Amino acid sequence: MTTQTQTETCEAQTLQKRRVFSGIQPSGEVQLGNYLGAIKGWVERQEEKVNFFCLVDLHAITVYQQPDELLHQTRSLAAMLFAAGLHPDKSTVFVQSHVAAHAESCWVLNCVTPMGWLERMTQFKDKSARQESVSAGLFDYPVLMAGDILLYDSDEVPVGEDQRQHVELARDIAIRFNRIYGDAFVVPEPMIPDIGARVMGMNDPTVKMSKSYAHIRGHAVRMLDEPKEIERTVKRAVTDSGSEIAFSDNPEKAGVNNLLGIYKVITDKSQPEVIADFSDARGYGELKSRVAEVVIEALTPIQKRYYEYMDDPAELDRMLARGAEQATAVATPKMDEIKRLVGFTLPQRS
Ligand code: AMP
Ligand code: TRP
Repeated sequence: MTTQTQTETCEAQTLQKRRVFSGIQPSGEVQLGNYLGAIKGWVERQEEKVNFFCLVDLHAITVYQQPDELLHQTRSLAAMLFAAGLHPDKSTVFVQSHVAAHAESCWVLNCVTPMGWLERMTQFKDKSARQESVSAGLFDYPVLMAGDILLYDSDEVPVGEDQRQHVELARDIAIRFNRIYGDAFVVPEPMIPDIGARVMGMNDPTVKMSKSYAHIRGHAVRMLDEPKEIERTVKRAVTDSGSEIAFSDNPEKAGVNNLLGIYKVITDKSQPEVIADFSDARGYGELKSRVAEVVIEALTPIQKRYYEYMDDPAELDRMLARGAEQATAVATPKMDEIKRLVGFTLPQRS
């Protein structure tokens, strides 16, 4: 290759947009941690990248979901993602079970994944300890997730810290498959936001704010909470007996640190700017009022748009159908490539 064509190839590669894939489960109520740790970043970066955002209903049923509830949560989550700013012209937003290649790829990848790799997954250990009966699906969950990511040749996987181990497993599975059968997969990278990666519970700042505990009073700010409820939850947030408003990794100050972190991510300010904003604050009461204020200000327009989408189910269905079509157009040829590599015959398509 001449230097000239080398440079041109390089330029073409940098011009080629990187592919982003992430997933979110339609179970439990979407809470502020999901928004600040995941959705907000997806929205802000959707212009720069080629994006796939998947509502992972196959993952959701790894623990029992009431069917009616799952149906509602899936539509509700879709409405929330669009309301938060994901745009169908810029991002492919779709439901996992609408694209058959997800379940199919999981099977093939199961067959190259050693059991020992799955036995090491810390989320499985945590989740299975909380279940009376543990499904095979829960154990296999990370392989399904690897399929999600690998089908789209994803370069980047933006997730919270809790999902890092699963993305690393997806890398290992990709490398192993490529070695055994030939290069099929891009090896993806986890993208973990520094701050906002972990929004902690309001009632206990030592545990992560979670959809699974969103029903416990005072734990989470839920995306659909009314302003009064948000104010109540933030005002009751557990802090400490001191009075210093500062970012800190001292576990005793975890409550204040969490409130400041939330304020920082919502306002897009730097740490010194945040501290400057609170230099005149009189105590934690005022800190909480101002945090509640910025949270309410950010969530109110999202809630308004959410209800507009929920009031127009036909439009929501059209948007999801378009997402599924776009996702299928990428995932099906990739699945065919996988099948060819492992030695399956491909059915004749008309
Ligand atoms: P989940 O609620 O577990 O389906 O998570 C959906 C996405 O939100 C994942 O990328 C999580 O890492 C992220 N996420 C969930 N809870 C939090 C939290 N408290 N802080 C930051 N990110 C979170
Ligand atoms: N397991 C992820 C979670 O609970 C959701 C998920 C499923 C996902 N498939 C994915 C995230 C692919 C990123 C990429 O948060």
